[in-house]
Amino acid sequence: MSSTTIARVHGRRVWDSRGRPTVEAEVTLAGGAKGRGMAPAGASRGSREAVDLRDGGKRLRGLDVTQAVANVAGPLATAIMGRDALDQAGIDAAIAAADGTPTKARLGGNATIAVSMAVLHAAAAASGAPLWRHLAAGGAAGKAATLPMPEIQIFGGGAHAGRRVDLQDFMAMPVGAASFAEALVMVAEVYHAAGALMAERGALMGVADEGGWWPDFRTNEEAIEALLRAIERAGYVPGQEVAISLDVAASEIGRGGRYRLGLEKRELDRDAFIALQLGWLERYPIVSIEDPLAEDDAKGMRAFMQATGGKVQVIGDDYLVTNAALVAEAAREGACNAVLIKPNQAGTISETKAALDAGKAAGFATIVSARSGETEDVTIVHLATGWNAGQLKVGSFARSERMAKWNEAIRIEEEAGLPFAGRGALAGRTRR
Ligand code: PGA
Ligand code: ZN
Repeated sequence: MSSTTIARVHGRRVWDSRGRPTVEAEVTLAGGAKGRGMAPAGASRGSREAVDLRDGGKRLRGLDVTQAVANVAGPLATAIMGRDALDQAGIDAAIAAADGTPTKARLGGNATIAVSMAVLHAAAAASGAPLWRHLAAGGAAGKAATLPMPEIQIFGGGAHAGRRVDLQDFMAMPVGAASFAEALVMVAEVYHAAGALMAERGALMGVADEGGWWPDFRTNEEAIEALLRAIERAGYVPGQEVAISLDVAASEIGRGGRYRLGLEKRELDRDAFIALQLGWLERYPIVSIEDPLAEDDAKGMRAFMQATGGKVQVIGDDYLVTNAALVAEAAREGACNAVLIKPNQAGTISETKAALDAGKAAGFATIVSARSGETEDVTIVHLATGWNAGQLKVGSFARSERMAKWNEAIRIEEEAGLPFAGRGALAGRTRR
């Protein structure tokens, strides 16, 4: 038995940023090193992503995780006990085999990702290196770690704000920043300018699930327009210094090639919905757009990519669910040019990395992302940095489950002096 042999696997119920139960796993190695991982939870989930195991029933609205927690110390512990924590791939294969379903439905994706992350942290702790460095050291030589370009939500919407607007995320990207620390200053200015603007309009209603301002608009475009005004009011040149990024999260509003804009009380077919978004791309400095069409609308995604001609970053989230095979297929079909990477969509760290690698192999931009239900766990910041993903999406610039991640990146930048990925990390030729 070596010092990095897994000696104990423990699970517990903790609570996420929406006050819902979630799974924390704790792994202890023979040499005493410990690692912890906490499962996040999405609200606008892709139908093909790993699923959380919830107890059902009346208590805690059916959301309790006692069975998932029991699976950590039960079948998952059995599968990985005695293995070497440095063999993340072997451990994740054992986790996937113990579950045996494509979506981690039997043991729960919330249990598997917590354990997989805990193993990763324990291995890094044993090596004495911060996690990002542990990951960078394990990567291909010459591929230096970088601090990611952040995309930060200013207005929340969709499933994160009672569907008050149809689009889910109206985000700022500080494309003119020279460092991560400067990027956050720029976004902070925009965030607070947006709050002041809402207050003046008598529309300041608090914040949505990820900390973005609660949207009080008459149309979806009005929210984009307000974001543009906030960038200007903060003193930045739109597009040059701070650009706009949208997550349409179209799977929430579309099916079978038809899209329902509840706020505007109208339904659009695929072509009209694409035309609407192309109009936004013309009128506003939008450099990135996520899930512009629904997960069942491959035809629409291909048409959107063709219409935008590679000018803008087109991200697959629900469309690709952090799945390497789906990323490769999308690349062959020309359905996107960027992939969102959410560890709990895959269910293990190794499958997450495989999706990221598939994206890089296809020439896609890669964006590591949090979920709308988060915790103080900052693992994704280390993944984005150590794996050199180039971009990081965490939600807004308020609420400590978000700020914990931004602040962790500041520490990494200060301690390690790593370069900032900058605007070159984006896919697409838009350089306004
Ligand atoms: P979710 O939303 O975590 O609720 O799925 C995040 C996203 O769609 O990017
Ligand atoms: Zn999304």
